[in-house]
Amino acid sequence: MERAKRGKVAAVASQSVEERLVRGLNLNLANMTSLATAYKQAHWNLQGPGFAQLHELFDRFADQTREYADLVAERAVQLHGTSHGTIEGAVKETTLPAFPLDEHREDLLLRALTDRAGVAISEIRRGIDGSEDDLPTQDVYIEIARGLEKQEWMLRSHLAG
Ligand SMILES: [Fe+2]
Repeated sequence: MERAKRGKVAAVASQSVEERLVRGLNLNLANMTSLATAYKQAHWNLQGPGFAQLHELFDRFADQTREYADLVAERAVQLHGTSHGTIEGAVKETTLPAFPLDEHREDLLLRALTDRAGVAISEIRRGIDGSEDDLPTQDVYIEIARGLEKQEWMLRSHLAG
C-alpha cells in the first residue's frame, strides 16, 4: 500500500495530464513572448526624466522574460508536446492586451507594462494551481512567478515615485 502510494506520486504525468499541461505552457509561452516584446517596445520608445534608468531596466526585464519563455517552451516539449513560439502563435494565444505602439511617455509606458505583468502573473499562478500533478512543471511556474512578481514590484515602485 505504502509502496503503491509512493509509486503513484513518483509516476510521470499521464497523457491527458500532459496534454492539458502543454496547452497551459503554450498559453504562458504566448504571454511571455508578448510581455518580452512589450518591454522592448518601451525600451526603444521611452521618453522622460527617468530615461537612463528605465531604458536599462526594461531591457533587463525583456531578457529575463525571454528566459521564462524558454523555460515554458522547453517544458512543453519535455512533456511530449510542441511549443508554439512564433510571434504569430503568440498573437493567437496571448491573454495580454495589445501594447500601445505609439506611446512615449514614461508614466504611461510604466502603467501599461505593470498592467500586462499583472495579467501574465495571474496566468502563471493559474499554471501553479493546475500543475499539482506534475511538480517539475509546477517548479517552472513557481520560478517564473517569483521573477515576474519582482518585475511587477519594481515597475509599481517607479510609478509611485
Ligand atoms: Fe537596446
